[in-house]
Amino acid sequence: MTHFPANSPRARDIASVLHPQTNARSHLEVGPTIMSHGDGVYIHDDEGNTFLDAGAALWCASLGYNNQRLAKVAYEAMSKLGYYQIFRHASHGPAIDLSEKLLSIAPVPMSKVLLQCSGSEANDSAVKLVWYHWHAQGKPEKRKIISRRGSYHGSTCVAISLTGKPEYQHGFGLPFDGFIYADSLNYYRDARPNETEEQFSQRLADSLERQILQEGPETIAAFWCDPVQGSAGALPPPKGYFDKIQAVLKKYDVLLVADEVICGFGRTGNLWGCQTYGIEPDMITCAKALSAAMLPISAVLLNDRIFQSVMAQSDKYGAFVHGYTYAGHPVAASVALETLKIYEEMDIVGHVRAMEEVFLSVMNGLRDHPMVGDFSGVGLIGGMELVKDKESRASYPSSVGLSARVDANARKNGLILRIVGDRLAFSPPLIITEQEFVELSIRLRKTLDQTFAEIQAL
Ligand SMILES: Cc1ncc(COP(=O)(O)O)c(C=O)c1O
Repeated sequence: MTHFPANSPRARDIASVLHPQTNARSHLEVGPTIMSHGDGVYIHDDEGNTFLDAGAALWCASLGYNNQRLAKVAYEAMSKLGYYQIFRHASHGPAIDLSEKLLSIAPVPMSKVLLQCSGSEANDSAVKLVWYHWHAQGKPEKRKIISRRGSYHGSTCVAISLTGKPEYQHGFGLPFDGFIYADSLNYYRDARPNETEEQFSQRLADSLERQILQEGPETIAAFWCDPVQGSAGALPPPKGYFDKIQAVLKKYDVLLVADEVICGFGRTGNLWGCQTYGIEPDMITCAKALSAAMLPISAVLLNDRIFQSVMAQSDKYGAFVHGYTYAGHPVAASVALETLKIYEEMDIVGHVRAMEEVFLSVMNGLRDHPMVGDFSGVGLIGGMELVKDKESRASYPSSVGLSARVDANARKNGLILRIVGDRLAFSPPLIITEQEFVELSIRLRKTLDQTFAEIQAL
């Protein structure tokens, strides 16, 4: 039985809502934090608390939580053509305009855009396209997909199979066969003594090559990567990583898919993470900031090599038999187009680059804190590694309950943190200002001080 008053929003929540990524049992006891409204980068709950969410909710609320211009566009789009589908030669203006726009800003030449509704769907569909491609090429045995340990690519059965986090697969009988995982890329944690970042990257590339040879290159279809590894704790790649990895993939004719679901649209200081790291993918998946998270929409951008295979399959089977009812939804597509227009008008890349300096200096300014072992970041994304001992880099034992303590103290200080293991992952709304960063750093230092004091007193 709930201890919340009968018919209160909390009681009704725990009686009715199954929450994603939430402990189903403890939720009955803890109940929800109910958000009521947004105000730029700030989010307010129904008890009068105000939070600065340092993760832009789920890495996505790039323009904050209440953009009136997007609200107006959504209203107008729904008033004009609230829905139509794009199956079987049907189309509409917003789907055409958005696809054309995405092709015009793609980091490498792309041929077509497949509109979807979420990052998971985009990755799921891109896996199908990879398999479709190799079938069209007469190589159906080229089917295995390599992603990296620590990566998250979504929650559909295929996207979670792509995900290199076993704790997301437990209890579901997943991953599917044929999904394999390359090394994670945490230089701070995994580099050998005196190993440079370039040497570390070479070791990862050599290890990938060994893995491909062991599995048989004729069975390896594609390699999946997010430019900055978000769910490993916002981990930028070590120097030279993508050059070295791409050389291996080219050698064995392995397709490269860049998951830009977090990094796309300015997050890393370029419009695409691919531009920040010189990645030349065959396909790109994107979502989240595509519509500033205001409506669910995502896209797969595919190059001509893949499109030629799709056409060959249409010749063979009669059609590209794949699609979601809401693919290219006109209201979501209109909001995405307006979002891209806002980015251009406000020079999102210029703003992120200007704020990057503030972000890095604020975070690096916390290195003197006894709990901060490391920080690495680029653009407006980065992660801070918390340690028990800076010298040995030893972590706190799990009995300390580090992440729960940090989370609770942060919330008391009006700060929402994304905590991944012992790393704090930062990806604030892209509209954040210098003053808001100062506020964020004050709340963060206070949180670390309180947590440290609590742990010392144990
Ligand atoms: C890198 C990456 N890919 C894919 C996804 C899945 O996107 P969605 O939750 O929209 O399905 C996420 C979600 O956080 C992500 O971080």
